[in-house]
Amino acid sequence: MIEKLNAIGGQALNDIENAADLDRLEQVRISILGKKGALSEVLKGLGGVSPQERPVIGGVANDWKRKVEDSLENRRKSLQEIELNRKLQSEKIDISIPSRMPHRGSLHVITQTTRRIVQIFSKIGFDVTTGPEVETEYLNFEAVNIPADHPARDMQDTFFLGPGVVLRTHTSPVQMRAMRRQKAPVRVLCPGAVYRADDDATHSPMFHQIEGLWIDRGVKMSDLKGTLQFLAAELFGKETRIRLRPSYFPFVEPGAEVDVSCFQCRTRVSDTCRVCKGTGWLEILGAGMVHPRLFEMAGYSNGTSGSGELGEWEGYTGFAFGMGVERIAMLLYQIPDLRLLFQGDIRLFSQF
Ligand code: PHE
Repeated sequence: MIEKLNAIGGQALNDIENAADLDRLEQVRISILGKKGALSEVLKGLGGVSPQERPVIGGVANDWKRKVEDSLENRRKSLQEIELNRKLQSEKIDISIPSRMPHRGSLHVITQTTRRIVQIFSKIGFDVTTGPEVETEYLNFEAVNIPADHPARDMQDTFFLGPGVVLRTHTSPVQMRAMRRQKAPVRVLCPGAVYRADDDATHSPMFHQIEGLWIDRGVKMSDLKGTLQFLAAELFGKETRIRLRPSYFPFVEPGAEVDVSCFQCRTRVSDTCRVCKGTGWLEILGAGMVHPRLFEMAGYSNGTSGSGELGEWEGYTGFAFGMGVERIAMLLYQIPDLRLLFQGDIRLFSQF
């Protein structure tokens, strides 16, 4: 029996030493000291041993038990240490790896362009005024001389939110609001989002306009021209020239479309210019002298009838202009596709 115990004990120490990890060590422990373990099995047979031999064998068995337990404990400690080291090694942070730079946000190109234009006009005394995007049909159309049968009021172009309520299709109602509120003088810039039921490569259902309005005694077409020339030079460079082409907008008379000379080829007309497509000019806005009907609609009373005296608002005239911010942003930043402006890709915006 002692030989058997010695064999079991020797084998156990060997197995313990060879246990590669804590799981394996636990298996070894159970196979020796567990209820059905080798050592326990032998001790169960102790009952059949003579009383003289019993203490001797018992002593040997206890010695082995202690040795095995000590050995298990030692091995556990060293395995735990190995495990910990392995973990520390694998979770080590390499502080020498260059860090990833955080993405820096930037203002949207439309915001940047709007701010640039606002800044230019603030130099010549324009205030910024804004109005609601949900607008009455009356202020969006009627009040700015777009009668009910005007094509712009077609359902195709206008988002109706309810009877008499629309998403504004342009920023002109903001001018009408300013005229009603301030009468004169008025020198305002009205930037904001506008909506039209249009969606393709060159149209977005939501886009941005900036309109300007200057009303004072004796404002002339030449003032309009000078103002827009100033804008063009500030925005596209001081050599930039402008030209006005007669055009029609219901809220102005006379009306004009305004081109700037191509900032790329500087009107040295060449078929290869990608910016102006060889025409030398870029259309950027609509403008004109405020239609007399708008003064009426805004409640400027001239009171000239009968009395012969100058009415309160006699001699007041004004000009108005309006531009699409997307178009100007695309020209300034050479963005080829309108839709890029609405995809929110920061890789695009971080370039500007
Ligand atoms: N509101 C016009 C538009 O949406 C722009 C414009 C404003 C044209 C003022 C002329 C004068 O097209």
